[in-house]
Amino acid sequence: MKKNILLTGCAGFIGSNFVKKIACDHQIKETFNFTILDALTYAGRKQTLEPELEQNKNLRFVQIDIRDNNRVQNLFNELPFDGVIHFAAESHVDRSITNPNIFVETNVLGTLNLLNASLPLFNRNPEFRFVHVSTDEVYGTLSESDPAFTEETPLAPNSPYSASKAGSDLLVRSYFETYKLNAITTRCSNNYGPYQFPEKLIPLMIQNALNNKKLPVYGDGRNIRDWIFVDDHNRGIWQSFLKGKAGEVYNFGGNSEKRNIDVVRHILKTLNKPESLIQFVEDRKGHDWRYAIDYSKAQKDLNWNPTVSFETGLEKTIEWYLKNNAWIQMIESTRT
Ligand SMILES: NC(=O)c1ccc[n+]([C@@H]2O[C@H](COP(=O)([O-])OP(=O)(O)OC[C@H]3O[C@@H](n4cnc5c(N)ncnc54)[C@H](O)[C@@H]3O)[C@@H](O)[C@H]2O)c1
Repeated sequence: MKKNILLTGCAGFIGSNFVKKIACDHQIKETFNFTILDALTYAGRKQTLEPELEQNKNLRFVQIDIRDNNRVQNLFNELPFDGVIHFAAESHVDRSITNPNIFVETNVLGTLNLLNASLPLFNRNPEFRFVHVSTDEVYGTLSESDPAFTEETPLAPNSPYSASKAGSDLLVRSYFETYKLNAITTRCSNNYGPYQFPEKLIPLMIQNALNNKKLPVYGDGRNIRDWIFVDDHNRGIWQSFLKGKAGEVYNFGGNSEKRNIDVVRHILKTLNKPESLIQFVEDRKGHDWRYAIDYSKAQKDLNWNPTVSFETGLEKTIEWYLKNNAWIQMIESTRT
């Protein structure tokens, strides 16, 4: 019997890459059916998944908002899933600064709806598993000399986005502690790769450079992020689903700490564009200084390592954006 897994938020960046590389893998297809749930907000496009939905019988798509508890419950009643991998979230930090409420509604209350719908399935099937995809931003910020975040680092979120993700992480934790729900949380550093919404640093800079537009860089550009290629993150999520231990948190990172300004310079150099396109702009409010991830637990328990270097990953990403202008045009023409 094939297992039925619910994937939430997979019309977005990370989830769509998960569907393309993992849910459509020829071996995984033999054993798993996937229901892809997405509300199709400004960040999600069904078109991104259309080739996969047409060609793979093990995939189906449902347009549901996780804030809609009735529709979530009905979906879980209709098909008793064997597991959930929960990507869906409001994910853009700048939008959380201008409109925080929807971040709490989707990231906190939406996650709570999924946890509540999952409990009866877990009570009937102890192998039922819930993987909650979270972020290193819940740990807050580091100075340059601080050691990297471990899974034991206290949560200290600084933006409404990261606070809402921390809220959902704590609910997941509580459902394990209180009800023993077979739940795992993953926390990853900054992703980049194909199909990333052009509001995030790397795709925004690539697009602006290609169009000879100014490249806006926050503050003095010295903030540090640890960059991970999206396929490495998704492999970690899948390993957590298959091999992770209930109640645990796993950090994933790319072992590629870079200053924002160096990332931007690297993009300009690759595209043969002048550094005069860089424009420093007023810093983001509550801008975290540095993120760095200690992923030794995932190495040890899940046999996971990042495999794509920043240089290779960025080259692949730039190449993808150069070849997929139609996708960018589709996003831009339907952007809200
Ligand atoms: N992008 C990163 O660098 C990064 C790093 C670590 C963790 N994460 C986490 O990974 C997950 C996916 O991130 P992403 O970058 O792909 O985000 P994204 O914004 O590209 O995609 C989010 C998806 O969720 C959907 N969605 C939003 N609200 C919904 C709702 N109420 N109901 C149903 N669907 C809804 C959107 O339509 C979209 O398809 C998020 O949980 C995010 O917090 C992201």
